[in-house]
Amino acid sequence: MGSLVLFLGIIFVSAIHSGHEPIASGREFVDPELIDKHEVFSKPGLHKVDGKDWDYELVFVVSAFNFNPGEVEIPKGSKVKIIATSRDVVHGFEIAQTNVNMMIEPGHISTFVKTFDKKGEYLLLCNEYCGTGHADMKSNIKVVD
Ligand code: CUA
Repeated sequence: MGSLVLFLGIIFVSAIHSGHEPIASGREFVDPELIDKHEVFSKPGLHKVDGKDWDYELVFVVSAFNFNPGEVEIPKGSKVKIIATSRDVVHGFEIAQTNVNMMIEPGHISTFVKTFDKKGEYLLLCNEYCGTGHADMKSNIKVVD
């Protein structure tokens, strides 16, 4: 009986937590038709944030056949939460020479937290076949001093 109460308590607490941080964890959703009006996805790019476990949020809107933004500069040593969704079909999101590798699906929000502590240029590419322009679907991530 005690463990059941504890179990229900945990569910209750997690429900409260997930309500407070809409893009923090688990499977989150966004209507592809409303991306341009969405509070996060209407502003693609790198944004400084305060009071979170990461320094920046890097918002990507992905579509056939490009990543928006097409190029990003990240200050070296920054902890970055990448937040991405697709306008159309399933795309891949891989940053070469790093462990960043996600599937980006329309209707879903994908996230990855990464500290960029090595200066250099990193190729962001789509590694999921998405149509005729798939091979040209790239972006450039620059980690700068
Ligand atoms: Cu997008 Cu392949």
